[in-house]
Amino acid sequence: MISRILCIGAGYVGGPTMAVIAKHCPNVQVVVADINKERVAAWQSGHPPIFESGLQEVVRASLGRNLRFTGDVEHEIGEAEMIFVSVNTPTKTFGQGAGRAADLQYWEKTARSILHHAKRPVIVVEKSTLPVRTAEAMERIFKNRRHGQRFEVLSNPEFLAEGTAITDLEAPDRVLIGGAETPEGQAAIGELVDIYARWVPRERIITANVWSAELSKLAANAFLAQRVSSINAISAICEQTGADILSVARAIGSDRRIGAQFLKAGVGFGGSCFQKDILNLVYLCEHNGLPEVARYWEAVVNLNQYQKERFVRRMIRVMFNTLAGKRIALFGFAFKANTGDTRESPAIQICQELLAEQAQLSITDPEALEGARHFFGTSSERVTFEPDPYKAAEGAHAVALLTDWAEYRTLDYRRIYDAMERPAFLFDGRNLLDCEELHAIGFNVYAIGRPDRTDL
Ligand code: NAD
Ligand code: UGA
Repeated sequence: MISRILCIGAGYVGGPTMAVIAKHCPNVQVVVADINKERVAAWQSGHPPIFESGLQEVVRASLGRNLRFTGDVEHEIGEAEMIFVSVNTPTKTFGQGAGRAADLQYWEKTARSILHHAKRPVIVVEKSTLPVRTAEAMERIFKNRRHGQRFEVLSNPEFLAEGTAITDLEAPDRVLIGGAETPEGQAAIGELVDIYARWVPRERIITANVWSAELSKLAANAFLAQRVSSINAISAICEQTGADILSVARAIGSDRRIGAQFLKAGVGFGGSCFQKDILNLVYLCEHNGLPEVARYWEAVVNLNQYQKERFVRRMIRVMFNTLAGKRIALFGFAFKANTGDTRESPAIQICQELLAEQAQLSITDPEALEGARHFFGTSSERVTFEPDPYKAAEGAHAVALLTDWAEYRTLDYRRIYDAMERPAFLFDGRNLLDCEELHAIGFNVYAIGRPDRTDL
């Protein structure tokens, strides 16, 4: 029975995942270690460095009991029986595979650190999303072990989505554990199953071999992103033909074989993982001599890029082919609602394209304004940051809604309209608002995949 768990990496995955394990396994000491001292201090003070509903309560319930955050990675490796590796695995920006392959430098440093500092038999659990056969590479690093050291590598990819991390962890659709088909591998799987089984029904805990588990994670994200690109592709046809994407999504989503989820057309998917993981899959296909399969998945990312460009093109076209000097209020900068995360947010590319048109931007977001400020820094005098959406819209020629925050639905749009320039434009990039009502107020309304509502 495992009694000491270490997680290396206190990010969006490591922090919440370990807090939930600590909650359900009060007799297991859970330590989360990270090289980022600021992050560690924030977690350890009970004020998590990320915004996630319900997270603070779960962390505080176990802090000081069986949950601890530390910067001393090496010492903690020596104490642990099971080590989760939850470091970042971004897309490589240099050398071979740049722009596609996963950058494995953080992961490899961690593997080497485990090799050097482990003092007892350790089960190493890949929590990060990694290319297929990474566990095998890790095992090769561990082959250089000293006498008496023993390592067993498992793959346990994480499927939580930001904004719903705690509910996803508390009641996952499934937990996936991949391990070697040897007696030692199966025993290690058994130890990890026992941890999850404290709160996850056994039938939801799926076991597999390591590379099937690794590939399943990439495939799951690719399928989800593909649905978003598919509905966005249909939204482009809707705008050309007068069909309404909401009706189309409802009609196709009612087919139980298709299902209703992930059919929301919008400004394109964002977040730290969809694009990175598909590009990783594309690289894997190319590497394995499957160029046709690579092109198939690459099209999902290309379409996503096109959707963002298309949104800006429509803005320029309907606003009389010029945005120069016009003030545009951007409602939302986070890549989705209920998170402060701005990584790969569609808002980034959209803002850059609007700035290239010499527009003045006023960005508002309930949780991601710091992220937005950090992104633009002081590099542009044409960007302002405004926590209050009413102020952001004052004197604006257009409002562009980019994140589906529920509070944007209940704003007083008459008040917003009254404070804007005329003609007032509203671009709903998430199909969140009531277009008819906004048009009745006086806005010229353009929503993704929906007919224009305009008097111009
Ligand atoms: P993150 O960037 O938020 O966190 C990673 C942390 O690892 C950082 O705090 C970093 O300082 C730390 N780190 C890097 N190298 C280290 C080292 N050598 N020693 C100690 N700490 C180190 O990343 P994240 O969003 O938590 O993602 C982690 C992994 O989980 C990625 O592979 C990602 O693809 C995957 N994933 C993410 C999500 C998500 O919603 N964000 C969901 C499922 C899977
Ligand atoms: C996604 C997956 O849903 C998780 O299962 C996975 O663990 C995670 O990636 C990961 O590996 O990091 P996340 O990126 O947090 O989670 O958020 P999603 O809810 O999947 O949304 C991703 C993007 O797609 C967002 O920009 C969202 O606005 C967009 N989206 C989603 C749409 O445009 N339409 C939809 O119908 C659904």
